[in-house]
Amino acid sequence: MINETKQNNQKRIFSGIQPTGNLHLGNYLGAIKNWVNLQKEIPSIFSIVDLHAITVPQDPVKLKASTYEVTAAIIAAGIDINRSILFNQSSVKEHAELAWIFNCVCRIGWLNRMTQFKEKAGKNREKATVGLYGYPVLMAADILLYKATHVPVGDDQKQHIELARDIASAFNSMFKNQSEEDFFCLPEPQILGPATRVMSLRDGKKKMSKSDISDASRINLTDTKEQISNKIKKAKTDPLPLPETVNELQSRPEALNLLNIYSALSSQPITKTLEQFTGKGFSYFKPMLVELAVETLSPISSEMRVLLKDTKEIDKILKIGEEKARNIAQPILKDVKSLLGFIN
Ligand code: AMP
Ligand code: TRP
Repeated sequence: MINETKQNNQKRIFSGIQPTGNLHLGNYLGAIKNWVNLQKEIPSIFSIVDLHAITVPQDPVKLKASTYEVTAAIIAAGIDINRSILFNQSSVKEHAELAWIFNCVCRIGWLNRMTQFKEKAGKNREKATVGLYGYPVLMAADILLYKATHVPVGDDQKQHIELARDIASAFNSMFKNQSEEDFFCLPEPQILGPATRVMSLRDGKKKMSKSDISDASRINLTDTKEQISNKIKKAKTDPLPLPETVNELQSRPEALNLLNIYSALSSQPITKTLEQFTGKGFSYFKPMLVELAVETLSPISSEMRVLLKDTKEIDKILKIGEEKARNIAQPILKDVKSLLGFIN
C-alpha cells in the first residue's frame, strides 16, 4: 500500500554542502546566503553531506572537524534551526538506501555526461572511486527522498539537478501507482543572485574552490579582517577603469568577478553597482569591496567561533535535525519500496 506521501503541491527546499576544507565566499554567495532568504518562504532542509565528501579520500579527524565547522557556519550565516531542518547526511541511512535504488534506475550513459566527474577524476579516471562516479545519483536521492521541489545551489550543480530530474522521470514512468500519478515531482534548480559562480581571486576564469592550492585564490569564511583585506588588495585585476555596461565586462573576467561579488554582498543587481563605480579605478573600488566583505563576513566568523566552543551543543542540534529529516524520509522511502515490489 502506498502511504500518504503525495506532494499536495507543497513546496520544499533541499540543499547540501560538503564538509570538506574551507568554506569560502563562493559557498556563501552561491548557496548559503540564498538558503537564508528562501527558508523564510519555503520549508527547508539543509544537509552537511558527509557521504558525498568520502567520494574522495578524507582524513577522518579533519572530516569530523569540518562537519562541526560547516554546521557552525550555516547556523552563523543565519539558518534558523527552529524553522529549518539541519542534519548530517550519514545520520539518515535512507539516503544511501534510495541512492542504491536509483543506481538501478540511472543509466551509465547519463553519468558519462557529468562534467564535474570528468574534472575531478582528471586523467586518473581508472583510479577514481565508484562513489565519485555515482556521486550525482546520491545527490538525486538526497533531493527526492524528501520530494523536494526547489534546490538552491551554485551554477556548478545545475547539471546534477538535471540528472535528478531525469532519474525522477525515469522512476515515474517505470513505477506508476494505481491512480497512474507521477510519484516524484521534478525538482527545480534555484540558481539565484549575481554571484552564482564566484571565480578565483587569482584567475577570473577558474571557479573559487575549497581545493585550490592557493589560499589567496579564495576568501574563507574564517579569514580575519587583515586576510580579507590583503586578498582583495592582491586580487588580479586590469588597468582599465570600471565601465558603464555589463557588456563591456565580458572580456574582463576578473573585473566582472569582483563587481559580481560586490553586488551579491550588497544584494543589488550588477547594473546598480556599475552606476556606483563607473569611471573609477580599482584603487577606489577595492577598499570599498574590502569594507563590505569584512562587514558581512566578520559577524559570521565570530559567531562561528562561539558555536565551535561547544561541539556538544552542535551534536544536539544535528540530532534534532536528523530526527525531523528521518520523519519525512522514512514514509517516502517506504512508498518507493512498495512501488518496487519489496515487502516492507
Ligand atoms: P561544495 O563546496 O562543493 O559542497 O558546494 C556547496 C555549495 O556551494 C553548492 O551549492 C555549490 O554550487 C556552491 N558553490 C561552490 N563553489 C562555488 C562558487 N565558486 N561560486 C558559487 N557557488 C559555489
Ligand atoms: N553536490 C553538491 C556540491 O558539491 C552538494 C550536494 C549534495 C547537494 N547533495 C545535494 C546540493 C542535494 C543540493 C542538493 O555542491
